[in-house]
Amino acid sequence: MDKIVIEGGRPLKGAVTISGAKNAALPALAACLLTGGWHRLVRIPRLRDIRTIQRIMADLGTDFREQGGVIEVNSENLTGYEAPYELVKTMRASILLLGPLLARCGRARISLPGGCAIGARPINLHLKALVAMGADIYLDHGYINARAPRLRGADIFFDIPTVTGTENIMMAAVTASGRTILKNAANEPEVQDLARMLRSMGADIEGEGTDTIVIHGVDRLETCEHTVIPDRIEAGTFMIGAAISRGAIVVEGCIPAYLTSLIEKLKQAGADISAEDRRITVRGPDRIQSVDIKTMPYPGFPTDLQAQFMTLMAIADGWSMIRETIFENRFIHVSELRRMGADIEINGGQALVKGKERLLSAPVMATDLRASASLVLAGLVAEGGRTEVHRIYHLDRGYEAIEEKFRGLGAAIWRESEPPL
Ligand code: EPZ
Repeated sequence: MDKIVIEGGRPLKGAVTISGAKNAALPALAACLLTGGWHRLVRIPRLRDIRTIQRIMADLGTDFREQGGVIEVNSENLTGYEAPYELVKTMRASILLLGPLLARCGRARISLPGGCAIGARPINLHLKALVAMGADIYLDHGYINARAPRLRGADIFFDIPTVTGTENIMMAAVTASGRTILKNAANEPEVQDLARMLRSMGADIEGEGTDTIVIHGVDRLETCEHTVIPDRIEAGTFMIGAAISRGAIVVEGCIPAYLTSLIEKLKQAGADISAEDRRITVRGPDRIQSVDIKTMPYPGFPTDLQAQFMTLMAIADGWSMIRETIFENRFIHVSELRRMGADIEINGGQALVKGKERLLSAPVMATDLRASASLVLAGLVAEGGRTEVHRIYHLDRGYEAIEEKFRGLGAAIWRESEPPL
């Protein structure tokens, strides 16, 4: 396993270019199962999770050709419809294969994704919607077994706006017979991006970006070329890095409109931010002001930036209340931040953060993807030596070359391998 080592105290300076969004690339790859022929996907980030879904799809008979950030995908000769436990357990977003496999093959056998560090992560809403569309689904030996000779359109209401649930049902509905209406649908930018890709394949879909999406099934889909949107969570992570390190950076190749809630909160915290077309400039304040946040579905404050923002508040002037409303256990990073001197009190889904003058370097443990990023940010400003972030395979799932990008901004950060225990 590898660790990342950081010597804190250097303000971030310069420019960083954002990679394609992991959470747009995963559904885009899954959507290539809907029809044979060569699709071209552009700006696919080189991440552990991307390699995992590619491996599952390759085992089902999908062919890939790669050059640079472009991946060509051909599912003409599918030979199977099963996503095995060994791979699904490492990446629960494999559930995104359920909808397209059911639509294309009439059957699917997907290992039931377990929970993960941040919560139980149920998929009941995915299954309930597919049953409403005529699928016969039963669970056995830890697998979802689904059959549907032909999915039919249905009126679906999601009790909770679920991102991958909305994406799964969109992909199931585009070739179903009749009309599907998704109400209380998720409207995250990644959902909107999938809708654009499906439309370019010939799908009849409208309403993405609102809470109601209407899909009329079509008989056939075409191949497409699709460029996935830039990763707003990666962009937000670097923006917080500039603020926390009292630096000044330019985040290139991002979409400021996707980061409105974070921009607003960083301004309240004292950062100087300017946004134009595809770039955001962030200058950190000398003293960060404490700000309350509450995570919400898009366009509210994203849960995937909660841990990173908490690190910023850990050295702010004053108290801040951080409320996590999306996942039931997304404060795992708190115990590690406390080891660096943070003063944080948890009460259910709320964390009360008392800003301190400084954090102190320490060896810490990554536990999930975004918590890992919060520990790297803490290391950028920790005093008294080197911070070591262990088990950074969590980071590699969702950030492309993160230590190289931070080093390019002037941070003293490098990766070391560590002997297995
Ligand atoms: C997606 O997860 C993202 N992953 C997550 O990013 C992100 O944190 C999350 O959306 C929220 O924005 C991908 O897109 C691959 P949900 P997803 O279904 O779809 C409950 C990262 O770090 N729920 O929108 O799994 C659920 O428990 C990851 O990149 C049900 O109860 O999240 C949660 O409380 C972490 N039943 C809420 O809905 C269901 O059937 C929102 O979850 C589905 C969800």
